[in-house]
Amino acid sequence: MVLHIVDHPLLHDLMTRLRDRETSSDDFRALTYRASTFLIAEATRDLPTREVPVATPLEATTGRRIATRVVAVPVLRAGIGMLQAFVDLVPGTEVGYFGLERDEETAVARRYYEKVPKELGGAVVFLLDPMLATGGSAAMAVEGLLARGAKDVRLVAIVAAPEGVDLLLKRTNGTSIFVAALDRGLNERKYILPGLGDFGDRLYGT
Ligand code: PRP
Ligand code: URA
Repeated sequence: MVLHIVDHPLLHDLMTRLRDRETSSDDFRALTYRASTFLIAEATRDLPTREVPVATPLEATTGRRIATRVVAVPVLRAGIGMLQAFVDLVPGTEVGYFGLERDEETAVARRYYEKVPKELGGAVVFLLDPMLATGGSAAMAVEGLLARGAKDVRLVAIVAAPEGVDLLLKRTNGTSIFVAALDRGLNERKYILPGLGDFGDRLYGT
């Protein structure tokens, strides 16, 4: 597993505004979209391409197109905030969904919905979930993807805690993680510190 912490001044600026408790849900959604574009650009940097002919208005030339099957799997609810950025950036994306929710008392994730392509063997699969806290949700989702034959799974998150990175490493060695920030740790309720609070609540104003 490789942890990539994406470092860009514009992403730092977006992150500070995402963390700010005064940021409205409307702004939070827009900032999530923008931050996601940086992370997705980085997570897709090594996708294979093939040369194709293209006719410009002036002459024939060649260009490159993405040459692999790409599947994006947002984790409900919060991962939905990252999906539009993904499909806007990556042509031909197939989309699957995992519905996972942490128990408020135990912070243990429970799966309540699943609609993912059955066969993922030939695909590059991007799991979209902005928060990697204990890692329980991401590990459950990655295991579900591996069970469908996925060989190349990349988690695109916004904030990670070291505990989540460690758990994912232990349970699903081989998953790459792309994040904007690796934060200090978890509080007693398993929220990331300093973090940005409950991502789903802030995204949807609940
Ligand atoms: C959040 C987040 C992750 C999970 C991370 O979802 O979007 O899925 O918590 O925590 P973990 O690493 O400790 O598993 P939540 O369960 O709050 O559901 P929601 O997005 O529907 O609010
Ligand atoms: N889920 C969130 O939305 N935020 C956290 O800090 C941890 C889990």
